Amino acid sequence: MKFGDFVKIKSLGTPAGFKENLQRLGLAMPCDDTLEAAPVSPMAQPLEIDGLTIGNRYTVHPMEGWDAEADGRPSENTQRRWKNFGRSGAKLIWGGEAVAVRPDGRANPNQLLLNEHTESAIAAMREALVAEHSAATGSDDGLVVGLQLTHSGRFCKPNDHHKQEPMILYRHPILDRKFKLAADYPLMSDGDIRALFDCYVQNAKRAAKLGFQFVDVKACHGYLGHEFLSAKTREGEFGGSLENRTRFLREIVAGIKAEAPGLKLGMRLSAADLVPFRPDPALTTADAMGPGAPEEFAGLLPYRYGFGLKESDPLAMDLSETKAVIAIARDLGIKLFNITLGSPYYNPHLTRPALYPPSDGYHPPEDPLIGVMRHLSVVRELKQAFPELAFVGSGYTYLQEFLPYVAQAAVRAGWVDSVGLGRMVLAYPELPADVLGGKALQRKRLCRTFSDCTTAPRHGLVSGCYPLDGHYKKSAEMVKVTAIKKAVKLS
Ligand SMILES: Cc1cc2nc3c(=O)[nH]c(=O)nc-3n(C[C@H](O)[C@H](O)[C@H](O)COP(=O)(O)O)c2cc1C
Ligand code: SF4
Repeated sequence: MKFGDFVKIKSLGTPAGFKENLQRLGLAMPCDDTLEAAPVSPMAQPLEIDGLTIGNRYTVHPMEGWDAEADGRPSENTQRRWKNFGRSGAKLIWGGEAVAVRPDGRANPNQLLLNEHTESAIAAMREALVAEHSAATGSDDGLVVGLQLTHSGRFCKPNDHHKQEPMILYRHPILDRKFKLAADYPLMSDGDIRALFDCYVQNAKRAAKLGFQFVDVKACHGYLGHEFLSAKTREGEFGGSLENRTRFLREIVAGIKAEAPGLKLGMRLSAADLVPFRPDPALTTADAMGPGAPEEFAGLLPYRYGFGLKESDPLAMDLSETKAVIAIARDLGIKLFNITLGSPYYNPHLTRPALYPPSDGYHPPEDPLIGVMRHLSVVRELKQAFPELAFVGSGYTYLQEFLPYVAQAAVRAGWVDSVGLGRMVLAYPELPADVLGGKALQRKRLCRTFSDCTTAPRHGLVSGCYPLDGHYKKSAEMVKVTAIKKAVKLS
């Protein structure tokens, strides 16, 4: 079999065909044969957690569009996306999208900022989301909307889409090289870190004032909150021991609890990281990128530059520290977790299983269904360890036609409390509402993981589902993305 030549999900026809394929791959993924609609479906059951009643078991993951105005206010595209999130019928809106707590912490110059200049526009956007939800589903009962707070750390590009301005916690032998950081590139000082606490707290206070029910202290995807967890080689009070590596989280949570007492807290966590990947040099030609392969790490053992992995074998997950971090977060009062994996910047196949790579990625190193199974298994293990906490799972979009069948079976079996949808909601926002309403899936609208929504921002363009969302049809951005994909032989 040529690399990347995996069985296409849409060719599998029925749940029985899908299950045969799972069996061929040796994957024990739960999958129902038929779908149930509301009110009997497991997906329609409310989720009670932390004094919140979340009306059903679908979550919309945070997804930014690289499309806010330069001053951090939402643009028309941003508002449209949030309305789509509301229209989805999902009752948990996890953060809308990453909002930078300070301008220099933006991952791109068009990331949302929450401050006195932008708050009324962000409040209006939240209200529009709620109104859209009510109009589509008849009620906003059980709708819970949070805001994701972030600092982009190593992946800051606050001023220019093509200029990195990283803020790093420790020297990472692979990532420093990959992103061309000089050997003497400065580390954030403990003082730089402390200066961020109040930014998180003030953003959280403002979010509470605007009506968001929770904030997510983001700790995933290689951004700052996640980098702390792997800062094993950092000296001082924010590195080394797990106690030190969780100090950032603990200080911020304490500040938010003191200043915004009624506000709930969530945590989006990359449960496991693994070594960075790149296109396999042996299979990459001038004409085409190869499948993903791990960067060289033999000289770096024990590998002390990742979180949730085995130091002796950094291609294998080890969830013991992940569980320790969740226990710490639980003791701080966090009861709502959204579990993800890896980073879209250096091992995207972990974060977003896909058949077609983004332009800065690589062809899949494994059948993407294996990647989906990894997400499901990790969340299952965490849920088993912490039955009293609520877990949202990620990575479901690649399941396409069979997403609702797997979601329903996984929730029924208690593997996960709520099924998070990312890319699928960009392509086909109404999928949860259609499934819960007992309607047939609109197959033409299913995300086929073409990755244009990642390729575009990697080239300084707004993100969106160019292939399937008519809003972007024939736009200048769509023309550019098509040309970029041709140039790197992705279409
Ligand atoms: C365009 C785009 C933007 C994203 N932005 C964010 C973000 O702001 N915060 C975040 O935690 N994850 C972000 N993600 C990751 C998604 O939330 C989700 O974890 C990922 O797409 C996998 O879920 P899926 O298989 O349903 O797409 C983004 C993903 C995409 C495709
Ligand atoms: S561009 Fe559309 S079809 Fe492609 S991965 Fe993104 S949401 Fe899916």
